[in-house]
Parts: sequence; structure tokens; C-alpha cells
Amino acid sequence: MKYVMMGTQQVSAIGLGTWQFGEAGWGWGTELDHDEAIRIVHRALELGINFFDTAEVYGNGRSEEILGEALRGRRHEAIVATKVAPPLRPDRVMQAARESLRRLDIESIDLYQLHAPDGGVPLARTMRAIRRLMDDGQVQQVGVSNFDLNQWQEAEAALGSPVVSNQVQYHLLDRRPRNLLPHAHEEGRIVIAFSPLAQGLLGGKYGPGNVPQDLRANFGIFNDDNLRRAPAVVATLRQVGEHYGVTPAQVALAWLLLDPQVIVIPGARSVAQLEANAAAADLRLTPGDALRIEEATRA
Ligand SMILES: NC(=O)c1ccc[n+]([C@@H]2O[C@H](COP(=O)([O-])OP(=O)(O)OC[C@H]3O[C@@H](n4cnc5c(N)ncnc54)[C@H](OP(=O)(O)O)[C@@H]3O)[C@@H](O)[C@H]2O)c1
Repeated sequence: MKYVMMGTQQVSAIGLGTWQFGEAGWGWGTELDHDEAIRIVHRALELGINFFDTAEVYGNGRSEEILGEALRGRRHEAIVATKVAPPLRPDRVMQAARESLRRLDIESIDLYQLHAPDGGVPLARTMRAIRRLMDDGQVQQVGVSNFDLNQWQEAEAALGSPVVSNQVQYHLLDRRPRNLLPHAHEEGRIVIAFSPLAQGLLGGKYGPGNVPQDLRANFGIFNDDNLRRAPAVVATLRQVGEHYGVTPAQVALAWLLLDPQVIVIPGARSVAQLEANAAAADLRLTPGDALRIEEATRA
């Protein structure tokens, strides 16, 4: 496993996204169940993954509960990241943190992320609550999610100390977050790539005429434009991967990790997917590979 510094914490470059846990829209109870979710977390720890991403809204709190259960007795091996969703009023933030701590069954959240900007509440007010949580030891570090560059910098100014990460949708079919990278490099911050496999589209299993019939059908990634562009990108990922004996999904993750300030948090619905994702940390793409992939994406 490869590790990077996120503020004061050393995190695995491949983390585990746990939106799939407890979420009916991801086929919870049919495609994935409680026991497999626990096995996924335990196998992740064995493979050196220490960064786990959840949110109060995933499965309406169930994801946090399952992650907390899986980490019982192994808390010290994990960096636990969760999120508070708008509205980001101070009283709501304080209450949400308490509830997340209870569901996760932990004393302190390692990375507390604002799930999305809230235009209705000044960041200074939200961050006063976050500061209180930090002073009380209930939160160790602070991150944001779905913030643009200005909003990230404003959040940091409002907190008065580093907002160590920004979690954004970033994958080969959506490279807009690249404009966050110079800031991450200059300030030593981390861009956390969510949906790094484009929710499975970059794995090659899905495509035009074969869209997963779950919450992904409405999330936006499986739109006409991505469905049109994906086959050529996946074909290139497959060609590059054949040289190393790896899959298109693994190449897609390794491409993101070419930037040292980026970490990825793929979701997994089986231990086999988790294992494949963890192994992508060992894949070293050459500049030639990167160029080929870039060209396929541009086309
Ligand atoms: N901050 C935010 O607003 C936000 C939004 C979305 C997600 N997230 C976070 O980011 C995490 C990951 O994003 P995501 O789950 O949306 O998308 P993702 O990680 O890009 O895709 C996950 C899906 O890809 C497929 N997959 C996983 N490993 C694979 C492999 N090795 N080979 C082929 N296919 C594979 C699986 O679908 P199949 O089982 O169908 O193959 C899996 O459910 C979430 O769990 C969550 O923690 C955050």
C-alpha cells in the first residue's frame, strides 16, 4: 500500500468508500449484505487500507453503524472520515457530530467533512461550531466536499487552520477537479477522489444500453455523454492494463494516483472488488501510459 500525509495523519492512498453499506439504492440486502460489508472492512485493514469514508446520510446512518461495528477493537488501525450535510447551522453541526460519534461508536472523528457548501449559512458560523468540536477533541481534522477552489479557501480562512482535504467527484470522465490540484500542491492539501471508477462505468461492465438499475441511474455519471465516451476510454485502459496483467478499473485508479496529492476512495460491493482496488496502489504507470490515457479521454 502507498501512504500519504493528510495534514497530521498518514492515510492510505487507496481508501474505502462505504456509501454502499446499508443503502437500499446500492442493492443493500441483495447485492451486498451486513456480513460481506464487515468482511470488506476487515480485508481492507489486512491489505493496509486505513482510510474509511462514510457520511451521516449514507443508508440514513446505517453505513456509519456498520463501519463502527467492523472497526470495534481495531479503532487504532483506522482513520475514520465522515460528513455532515447541509443545513450547516452550528446547532445542527454539533448535534450531527454527536450522532455520528454514537453510530460509529468512537470518541473522536479523524476527519470531519462538510458534505457540500450551504449558501444559506455563513461559513464563519459553521466553522465556529467545528472549532468547538475540535477544541473538545470530538474532531481531529477538518475537510470539505463538493467545494470549488474559492469555497475551499474561504472555508480555511473561516476555520483559521488547515482544511486538509476536499472530496470531489474525480475520474477519467470528469477531470474538472484538476483546477484544485495547484492549491493542494502549494498548501500540502489532499484531493479525495470520490466515484473514482465513475461508479463502475470505468470497469467495463456497463455501457450504452447497460446502465445499472439502482440509484446510479439517477446520480448523473451514467449520462449520455459519459456513456458515449466511456467505451473508447475503457478500451485504452484495457490495453494499458494488459501489459501489467491488471484490469481497466485498476488502471483508472492508478491514473488518479499519479498525482501525489490525490487519494481515491472506491466503493466495493464484494471482497474481490476491494482486493482488486487495493492492489491498484502497487501499479506504477509510466509517463507514456499516462499520455495514452489522456489522449483517449480527450478524444
Ligand atoms: N462526497 C460526496 O458527495 C460523495 C458522492 C459519491 C460518493 N462518495 C464517496 O465515494 C465513494 C466511492 O464512490 P462511488 O461508490 O459513488 O463510486 P465508485 O467507487 O467509482 O464505484 C463503485 C462501484 O464500482 C464497481 N467496482 C468497485 N470496484 C471495482 C473493481 N475493482 N472493478 C470493477 N468494478 C468495480 C462496483 O459496482 P458494481 O458492483 O455494480 O460492479 C462499485 O459499487 C462512496 O462509497 C462514498 O464514500 C462521496
